[in-house]
Amino acid sequence: MARPMQMYTYIHDAILRDTAHFEDLAKDLNRDDADEVAAFGAAIDGFHEKVKVHEHTEEAVLFPKLNERISFVSETYLFDHEDFEPNVFDALDGAVTALRNADGSARKDAALRVYREAVSLNEHMRLHISKENELLIPHLETEFDVGEQAEVAGAMAGQVEPPMMAQLVGWLYDGQTAADREGMIRFLMMILPEEPFGKMTGMLAAKGEDAWTEMQRRIPELNGG
Ligand SMILES: [Fe+2]
Ligand SMILES: [Fe+2]
Repeated sequence: MARPMQMYTYIHDAILRDTAHFEDLAKDLNRDDADEVAAFGAAIDGFHEKVKVHEHTEEAVLFPKLNERISFVSETYLFDHEDFEPNVFDALDGAVTALRNADGSARKDAALRVYREAVSLNEHMRLHISKENELLIPHLETEFDVGEQAEVAGAMAGQVEPPMMAQLVGWLYDGQTAADREGMIRFLMMILPEEPFGKMTGMLAAKGEDAWTEMQRRIPELNGG
């Protein structure tokens, strides 16, 4: 594998796809439709859970590894993670709760507040993730050889429980190009034992025949045998 940390950037891509989508959803949210508002809140909760898992892998593996060679880099990223909880996620959760409880004319202001917080989520993530992609990862790729980078990528994946890993992989796959799907599956093939890898690919194959045929064309090892 040319770039072991590619898998890490696939997760970043999915986070940014979702935050941009949430901003669009919040802009057009029908504030008078309780089901639509509830579904928006639930989608944010599911997303927040995935972001926390991702941040945990960074805090448990990536940041300590970088600290071995470069001091006072990782701390600034951890600072962002801790700032997101009260100032981004709690603020958005609070706005959604306020909208769900608002009556009549109060609903217009409440919906505007949800939109504002969704814009804030998108912008905070854009900046944090751009810095991880463009500043942090190049440091890792300069300081550590490819074997060490593969160890870091594998150890980060090892922090994720199998049911959550399946959720994350399905989430990434849904929004990916064929080339990125191929890159992700090749990474999973490298880090997972045969049985869990088989379960994972079974789950992905069930998502759509055409997409899976394309994966089998790109990755001959998926054709069984
Ligand atoms: Fe981060
Ligand atoms: Fe990240």
